[in-house]
Amino acid sequence: MKGIILAGGTGTRLLPLTATTSKQLLPVYDRQMIFYPLNTLIKAGIKDILIIVSPDHSGQFLNLLGSIFLQYGVNISFMVQKAPRGLADAFILGEDFLDNDCVAMVLGDNIFEDDFTDAIQSFHSGGRIFALEVPDPERFGVVEFDGEGRVISIEEKPKKPKSHFAIPGMYVFDNRVSSFAKSVCPSDRGEIEITDIHKVYLEKGELDVRKLSGKWFDAGTFDSLLEAGKFVQEKKLGKSFDSIVNKAIEEYNIEVKRLLKAVF
Ligand code: TTP
Repeated sequence: MKGIILAGGTGTRLLPLTATTSKQLLPVYDRQMIFYPLNTLIKAGIKDILIIVSPDHSGQFLNLLGSIFLQYGVNISFMVQKAPRGLADAFILGEDFLDNDCVAMVLGDNIFEDDFTDAIQSFHSGGRIFALEVPDPERFGVVEFDGEGRVISIEEKPKKPKSHFAIPGMYVFDNRVSSFAKSVCPSDRGEIEITDIHKVYLEKGELDVRKLSGKWFDAGTFDSLLEAGKFVQEKKLGKSFDSIVNKAIEEYNIEVKRLLKAVF
């Protein structure tokens, strides 16, 4: 299983903050946002991770993450997405990186309390997505279940949602996902939609949906960014990070301080 973090995009809802840096490099309490999806993957046992970034911010990502995980056996690769063509574009850009392995893809602005170790380690084939009850499902992909918990429909940002179950930004697919992504047409808003990938697996009867129980933040607005920071502080979420991630951050800080001492 390989991992992809989709950390490009435009971040227009967070302007002017995103005029000077990438959304995923903004702070969420005591660390940059990108460390949360990184932790989600590393904690679940994934050691080979591709981070997809926008052209303007590739250098900043490389400076922060280019070498700090190497000594822990976690391989981080980078790829530039020239234009935000949609979430499912990740599987097209990442095709060579995936090299016929399965993939867990997490959005770079999604912060999860849940642990995905079991969902990832027990995955063999098909597609596995997640669902979580939210008060404002019209902002997300929405999944409808029948009385026995089977998926009936999936819709992207529906005006009249058929349930309160949103699909958060964590998806697990087998090695057919890149060819499926290449076969879907862009939507009316010009994006290759991830919900179209879900529908391909659903129509084949190979889509599994697991309900989450922990908190989830899509930290793409001022309010959700602030809320996420407060939650991280209150719950001391950083303490429950995989030790590899915390050690990498600590060593990065030590290295920066050492370089500063050498300069002054
Ligand atoms: P969004 O929050 O949907 O888009 P955005 O980040 O461009 O923000 P805004 O709507 O405020 O302009 O994206 C969700 C995540 O996916 C986020 O981490 C950015 C990333 N993304 C890409 O990397 N490439 C893309 O083509 C798209 C659509 C999103």
